[in-house]
Amino acid sequence: MNILILGSGGREHAFSWKLSQSSKCSRLFIAPGNAGTSQYGTNINIHATDFEGIKRFCLENAIDMLVIGPEEPLVKGIYNFFRKDPELKSIMVIGPSQKGAQLEGSKAFAKAFMQRHHVPTAAYREFDEDNYQEGVDYLQSHATPIVLKADGLAAGKGVLICQNHVEAIAEFELMIQHAKFGEAGKKVVVEEFLSGIELSVFVLTDGENYVLLPEAKDYKRVNEGDNGPNTGGMGAISPVPFADETFMQQVIQTIIEPTINGIKKEKIEYHGFIFFGLIKVGDNPYVIEYNCRMGDPETEAVLPRLKNDLVDLLEATSKKQLQNQQIETDPRHTATIVAVSGGYPGEYQKGLPIEGLDLIDEDDAIVFHAGTKQEDNQTITNGGRVLAATSFGDSLQKAVRKSIAILDTVQFDGMHFRSDIGFEFL
Ligand code: AMP
Ligand code: GLY
Repeated sequence: MNILILGSGGREHAFSWKLSQSSKCSRLFIAPGNAGTSQYGTNINIHATDFEGIKRFCLENAIDMLVIGPEEPLVKGIYNFFRKDPELKSIMVIGPSQKGAQLEGSKAFAKAFMQRHHVPTAAYREFDEDNYQEGVDYLQSHATPIVLKADGLAAGKGVLICQNHVEAIAEFELMIQHAKFGEAGKKVVVEEFLSGIELSVFVLTDGENYVLLPEAKDYKRVNEGDNGPNTGGMGAISPVPFADETFMQQVIQTIIEPTINGIKKEKIEYHGFIFFGLIKVGDNPYVIEYNCRMGDPETEAVLPRLKNDLVDLLEATSKKQLQNQQIETDPRHTATIVAVSGGYPGEYQKGLPIEGLDLIDEDDAIVFHAGTKQEDNQTITNGGRVLAATSFGDSLQKAVRKSIAILDTVQFDGMHFRSDIGFEFL
């Protein structure tokens, strides 16, 4: 089978690493990929939202399966683009339809979906220009902190947690009257603040059946002790100690199954991953958000623990045969630690040489590339998140120590990583 993966981060390196292990994978391409993905396949210089370019490439290279890493092409409708084109119809597309991708692409859609299907989530109201004044009045009497969410995709920046009413009303005005997060952010979801511990749960679904993948916890703040600004993710661990059998059964019964049944009932075409961003409040799980793709860096901690052939799983996803699949998980712990560029998530430099990559002893560990590029014979930085080191361990502590040791052998100017990934459980 010839497979094309879209995307260029650590998640896509993990996908290419895993898919290339399958005997069913003949040729593997990554668009645009990074210096790490080129170890497992051929990088091609096409942007993940260039649908016409992707189409041409698929036809010229007899692609059988398209695996979409990031949300943007999904929210822009790449699934529907492939399904309605007679030349592309036979290609398996791993991802939801444009409607399904609205679970991530529109916070208002996701909240209304959860309400229709009785999925536990924070109480909310939605506002736009038409009921702006009502929104201001609503905010004035809302308990603090107040959570404001821009409706559309906002590159991970569209959620604001406001500590008081003055701040909340000022931000609300900026979002609706001044399009702080663009046109799609002129609709705002105002949400009750939930206090608890977060985790990420993943399923693969064919729209009717699903399989549960290993869960993970990611660490979003740039500095140790969960301080500093939010990032795309500074590390991840799997399994998550508090996600025991009882808790996961509750997640399945109150969240996963109602969601899958909702997708089925509403006839939403969905052949891909659902990432449930959950929070445990007291003993109960609530949905903070849905994503229509895998997480990054969670994928780098989750896929190494998956023993199944991923091509088999994805093929079953596409053919609506997931009821026949059993997930097999490596019982060991994984810890992924992300090395980022100095300044990230603010301004940072690119093009810095990365030293020491060849010195890494990869026994029970994998260094995934996130933002890297190959130039002549040198691997250089090409993004804010640069590398994601994943290690296995019999304990979380051993896995974390090993990933730290690996990153200690790598060097680039301004490199920063967190040594306290998993800290609350150690
Ligand atoms: P999102 O961009 O939807 O992932 O949200 C970013 C982060 O905001 C989440 O990971 C949570 O930490 C936080 N967050 C979002 N919604 C809520 C909520 N209702 N209560 C508390 N924290 C929230
Ligand atoms: N790590 C969070 C995300 O992928 O959205």
